[in-house]
Amino acid sequence: MTGLSHYAAYLENEISGIELSDEPHNLYDTLRYFLSLGGKRMRPILTLLSGEIFNIPKEECVHAALSIELFHNFSLIHDDIMDGAPVRRGKPTVHTKWNTNIAILSGDQLYIEAYHQLANYSDHRLALLLKSFNETAIEVCQGQQMDMDFESLETVTEEGYIEMIRLKTSVLLGCALEFGAILGNQDEETRRNLYEFGVSLGIAFQIQDDILDLYGDPAIFGKQVGGDILSNKKTLLFLKAMQTGDNRFNELVRMNADHQKVAHAKILFEELGARKATLDAMNGYYDQAMENLKQLEAKGLKTDALHAVAKFLITREL
Ligand code: IPE
Ligand code: IPE
Ligand code: MG
Ligand code: MG
Ligand code: MG
Repeated sequence: MTGLSHYAAYLENEISGIELSDEPHNLYDTLRYFLSLGGKRMRPILTLLSGEIFNIPKEECVHAALSIELFHNFSLIHDDIMDGAPVRRGKPTVHTKWNTNIAILSGDQLYIEAYHQLANYSDHRLALLLKSFNETAIEVCQGQQMDMDFESLETVTEEGYIEMIRLKTSVLLGCALEFGAILGNQDEETRRNLYEFGVSLGIAFQIQDDILDLYGDPAIFGKQVGGDILSNKKTLLFLKAMQTGDNRFNELVRMNADHQKVAHAKILFEELGARKATLDAMNGYYDQAMENLKQLEAKGLKTDALHAVAKFLITREL
C-alpha cells in the first residue's frame, strides 16, 4: 500500500503494544498469535485517515482505530469457525491450530479489548462512538447470520445478497470512517457522508473478496481458495452464473464439494460471463464510493488519501 505503509507500520506497532496477560497461556498465546499475523489493517487506517481530514493527530485517533481492528479480528476468528476455514492470513486458523472452544473465547476477549480501547475517550465523543460501534456490531451479527442462512437456500436475490454483505462487511468500514469524523467533532451530515463512503467501498470490497475467493492466487490470498464454493455460499459470482440459466450451472451445483468442483466453477463462471458481470457490479459500487467522496470534496475536505485506499482495495490480491 504505497504511501499508506507508514500508517500500517504505526498500527502494527500499536497492536503489538496492546497489554495482554500471559496466563492462561492457551488464551493469550492464541491472541498473540492471531494479532501478530498481520492483515492489511485497512479499517484502522481508514479511521486514522478520516481523523486526519479534521486535523486530529493519529495518537488521538489510534484507540478508536484499534477498537475497529480488534472487533474485526474477533469477527474473523469466529467467522473462520462458522465457515470451517483452515487458513487465515497465510497461517492455520485459530480453531484448527487450537480448538473451537479456544477460538470462541479468544474472539470474545478481542471483542472486550475493543471496548477497552474506546474507554480512552470521554463525554459526548464516547457516547457517539459507542452508539455507532454498537449498532455496527449488531448489524455484523445480522449479516453473518444471513450469510449462513443463505448456504442452505437454493438461491437468493441480488438485493438479498447486497443487503447481507452490507451488514456483514460494509458497515464496519462505514463505522471506521465515521469514527474519524466523530473524533473531529463533525456534524451529523459529514459523519454520514464518511459512513456512506465506507459502506459503498465496503460493498465493492466484499464483492472483490468473493472474486478472490475463487480466482485469487493461493500463495498471495492467504485463505483457502474455493472456500465459498465448498460451503455453498451465495456469492455474487454464484448468483450471476445462476442467472444465465445455463444447464452446466445446475450440474455444477449438484457436484460433490471437493477440489474438482472448485476447479470446474473457476472455468464455468468465466465461460458464463459471471466473473465479468461480478467485476462490473464491483466497479459500480466503487463508482458510488467516488460519488460519496465528491460530497465531502464539495465541503472543501481533502480526500486524496481516501482515494488512495479505495484504489488499493479494489486492485488488491490479498
Ligand atoms: C476479511 O477482511 C473479511 C472480509 C470482510 C472479507 P480483510 O481482507 O480486511 O482481512 P485482513 O484483516 O486484511 O486479514
Ligand atoms: C466475512 O466474510 C465477514 C466477517 C468476518 C464479518 P467472509 O467469510 O467472506 O470473509 P473471509 O473471506 O473469510 O475473510
Ligand atoms: Mg469466511
Ligand atoms: Mg463468512
Ligand atoms: Mg470471503
